[in-house]
Amino acid sequence: MIITIDGPAAAGKGTLANNLSQKYNYAYFDTGMVYRAVGLEMHLLGKDLADENAALEIAQNLTFEHMHELAKNPDFRSALGGKNASIVSAYPKVRAALLKMQQDFALNPVFADGRPAQGVIYDGRDTGTVVCPHADVKFFITASPEVRAERRYKEFLQKGIAADYNEVLADVKARDERDANRATAPMKPAEDAIIFDTSTLNIQEVTIKACEVIDEKQKH
Ligand code: C5P
Repeated sequence: MIITIDGPAAAGKGTLANNLSQKYNYAYFDTGMVYRAVGLEMHLLGKDLADENAALEIAQNLTFEHMHELAKNPDFRSALGGKNASIVSAYPKVRAALLKMQQDFALNPVFADGRPAQGVIYDGRDTGTVVCPHADVKFFITASPEVRAERRYKEFLQKGIAADYNEVLADVKARDERDANRATAPMKPAEDAIIFDTSTLNIQEVTIKACEVIDEKQKH
């Protein structure tokens, strides 16, 4: 079974994906990682983020293993890492170069330790629309920019990273704007996606509802 979870930053996609991955024993692909990897590699090589060809070359040579190596760098998950990922993800050729790697994961889904999985959960912005348009179950998780900025802000403080709420809010809004308005694969719910708003539902409630949908699907 293939499950996709799309939506804006800090809406709760990762938490829902982890909950579902544990409950159903499915492998999990956080597709934001491919763009974070390209953005970080650009940064490490001192490339200008406006250099689309440099980003394309990095994307074409990116392997799953190298992506996981890059993920160990503290800047992979930092605010800078998110911003760089968002910039390179707007380049259509970069998206095209990274598509197969994401799609191939569903052909042979494995856990981090190499064990094979019975199914796969994707999270990102376009996994239900572009990466896996034929997914069995699609969710779109959203929340107001203020609620999401508050969550990110608290996460930064918990990790000991200095942050300013207004800057985090401005960054959330800028990323939403870039993700929703880019020409290729803009962030939007798939027509057959089930939409949850985590400004009004907590993540446990969303998980329960998502499990009901998946269990119903599995019966058929
Ligand atoms: O989800 P995460 O914050 O790690 O994603 C980093 C950036 O990668 C996002 O801001 C978005 O611009 C981009 N992204 C994307 N398509 C995806 C996943 C992430 O464009 N499927």
